[in-house]
Amino acid sequence: MTQEMDLNQRFEQYIAADQKIEAKDWMPDAYRKTLIRQISQHAHSEIIGMQPEGNWITRAPSLKRKSILLAKVQDEAGHGLYLYSAAETLGISRDEMLDALHTGKAKYSSIFNYPTLTWADMGAVGWLVDGAAIMNQVPLCKCSYGPYARAMVRVCKEESFHQRQGFQIMLTLSQGTAEQKELAQDAFNRWWWPSLMMFGPNDATSKHSEQSMRWKIKRFSNDELRQRFVDMTVPQAELLGLTVPDADLKWNEVTGHYDFGPIDWGEFEQVVAGNGPCNRERIDTRVTAHENGAWVREAATAYAAKSSKRASSQNSAA
Ligand code: 3HC
Repeated sequence: MTQEMDLNQRFEQYIAADQKIEAKDWMPDAYRKTLIRQISQHAHSEIIGMQPEGNWITRAPSLKRKSILLAKVQDEAGHGLYLYSAAETLGISRDEMLDALHTGKAKYSSIFNYPTLTWADMGAVGWLVDGAAIMNQVPLCKCSYGPYARAMVRVCKEESFHQRQGFQIMLTLSQGTAEQKELAQDAFNRWWWPSLMMFGPNDATSKHSEQSMRWKIKRFSNDELRQRFVDMTVPQAELLGLTVPDADLKWNEVTGHYDFGPIDWGEFEQVVAGNGPCNRERIDTRVTAHENGAWVREAATAYAAKSSKRASSQNSAA
């Protein structure tokens, strides 16, 4: 048996035994490639995802809400850095990943290309987008690639705070004045379907799902997680006294799930292709921030070089 077959067989045995693959372990190139793709795009999503909410930090209705939103946006930055670091263990550099994002070669979640028009959007984003993210990310804590799975454990703990604070905003608004309730309903109407799209295309058209599930990167399919999200969120909407913007939504006694209407995959494809409401703005803002931060990176690199030079001259003097 060739050496490669041996290694591949050992890799498959690790996966079958639910053992984690670590950065130093041999892995098929295709496994490495799809992990770099998914983890780097996940990181991009976290970083770009700071913009829609960052848009409301200066306009939060109270100091308490402002500090909660600040903490959430800072968390997202941390999630991004965690995930870039996890991707770097696979042999790609931060510069390569950022270049792919800035030049449009890499994707990030479609959801972040929608505008946040009112304060109620902060509630809808926390409740729905972070709620969908938790649904999708908790299974990733059991992903076969160790660094990714471990990054997800920390991320998921913070996501639950994100989702709770969003739901709390929606509860406050839905129990407030008629105008506030209308703000909450309007935000729900605008964020419901894009949140369902976060889980990716239907299983029948998903390019990567089958292989990703065989490699235990993905533990559930796009449609399974989407269905779980709908089943979990509809009762929450009822508790808020809000109407799910889907005339086809109906409880199915036979399946024990909610049936829901068709997703506009044409819209999804347009947004993923870069033609969503905010795609251009999101990337321009990101590139400008990166360029404005060049001096910080240069100063940190110069300081690190100086410190290591000082350390090595002290070592040789000792
Ligand atoms: N937005 C943009 N692109 C999407 C997408 C979406 N919502 N859903 C799928 N795609 C892309 C995929 O990246 C893939 O394109 P690629 O080959 O160029 O990468 C293509 O559509 C086919 O989709 P697949 O279902 O075959 O791809 P995956 O198996 O990778 O599944 C996924 C897509 C479910 C998003 C999976 O990549 C995943 O679970 N990623 C990790 C979680 C993640 O990235 N979540 C994004 C949101 S992060 C977030 O919400 C932060 C929170 O703090 C708010």
